[in-house]
Amino acid sequence: MTAQLIDGKAIAASVRQDIANAVSNHRAAGRRAPSLAVILVGNDPASEVYVAHKRTDCEQVGFTSIAHDLPANTSQQDLTALIDQLNADDSVDGILLQLPLPAHLNASLLLERINPDKDVDGFHPYNLGRLAQRMPVLRPCTPKGIITLLHSTGVDLHGLDAVVVGASNIVGRPMALELLLAGCTTTVTHRFTKNLEDHVRRADLVVVAVGIPNLVKGEWIKPGAIVIDVGINRTAEGKLIGDVGFAAAAERAAWITPVPGGVGPMTRAGLLENTLQAYENTL
Ligand code: GUN
Repeated sequence: MTAQLIDGKAIAASVRQDIANAVSNHRAAGRRAPSLAVILVGNDPASEVYVAHKRTDCEQVGFTSIAHDLPANTSQQDLTALIDQLNADDSVDGILLQLPLPAHLNASLLLERINPDKDVDGFHPYNLGRLAQRMPVLRPCTPKGIITLLHSTGVDLHGLDAVVVGASNIVGRPMALELLLAGCTTTVTHRFTKNLEDHVRRADLVVVAVGIPNLVKGEWIKPGAIVIDVGINRTAEGKLIGDVGFAAAAERAAWITPVPGGVGPMTRAGLLENTLQAYENTL
């Protein structure tokens, strides 16, 4: 292997430490703790695990974590009313509505109902619009965490040919906006892209966020490229793997994120950063 590993676990731990220090300083100055309300609807097993992690993270850095665990049959109206109540509550800095929601609920309407100042996921059209116009406020957590990982390499991102594989609202699209802001020449590929391999082969930087194991072959990676793998897939043997063929990619890349321990911890760290930012914006 020639690539250097980008250690998301260690970088996220250092971000969490900075946040814990900031919270201590606020408390020492007599201010209340930052607070995050997390809404979980239903019993999706993956969501239950993610939400449990987010709540532990909050407690570790000294945030107040407010749990709203609701049954799968909760109505759109009741969720809207809960969001309105949290929007109006001055002791709540961040509101996170865990996705996916049960099929009878309209997620877009609910995400748009969250006050953009409390939108710590950065999913509200206002926050995405601010990012698109180079005036970011609260930024989507995974792309934001990836930018932190990229800066940790010390590589100058200006002018790099970046390829984002996957065009989701949560990762691919905001990632493209972040890379554009960072000065990359940015291409987004998606399910209708004609020749994915050609795009990846010429990329100085590739971010893959699709959720298909081995979608990007390691042999496609340009020598010296940076590879960011957002995928988290479980094999039949129970092992976690990404969307990129890791072994072959690591023979060619200059930098690569492992799965697990790469992007995943940074998403959680990004949420804590956004919650602290939302809190500090109210002071
Ligand atoms: N489901 C999977 N990832 C996320 C995320 O980052 N935020 C929310 N709200 N739901 C998710």
